[in-house]
Amino acid sequence: MKSVIEHSSSHMTDADLKAVAAYLKFLGGNPPLQAYNMQAQQATEAKLTAAKNLTEGERLYIDNCGACHFVTVKGAPGIFPELDQATIVNAKDPTGLIHTILEGAQQPSTEKTPSTLAMPGFGQRLSDDEVAQLATFIR
Ligand code: HEC
Repeated sequence: MKSVIEHSSSHMTDADLKAVAAYLKFLGGNPPLQAYNMQAQQATEAKLTAAKNLTEGERLYIDNCGACHFVTVKGAPGIFPELDQATIVNAKDPTGLIHTILEGAQQPSTEKTPSTLAMPGFGQRLSDDEVAQLATFIR
């Protein structure tokens, strides 16, 4: 996706973007996500903040991810992406999320946002079981 954004979609004109949007609309899409559960989000945030009686997935999240994506799981706008509503997190198939945890990610460099903030990969640091517990908590 980084390459697509850097070399293609960041150079699209408004007309190009409207044409792509019209095509995607024509294709239809997934049913809307479930209504956002604010209470569940607040309960998770409170539990991660208190850091008591954590599940293994919650502990792994605080230790490895919380510094950038925060206990709110909302990151910081334009810098660290929000995870709780992210398509990659909520997709039926968890492959993309697991791949991101193992290999990390890097923001594309474009004319408007030239810096390329990076997320490290955790494949060397976490066992398969830990990655599974972490991904299960995040999903
Ligand atoms: C050093 C800061 C940092 C840490 C630590 C970090 N991330 Fe990230 N993460 C980022 C950045 C920056 C991006 C955006 C990269 C991009 O735009 O492709 C990102 C992107 C992601 C994405 C993709 C979001 C999307 O909408 O595409 C997921 C999922 C993710 N991180 C999960 C995690 C998990 C799980 C952990 C802990 C194992 C973690 N991150 C640790 C900085 C971090």
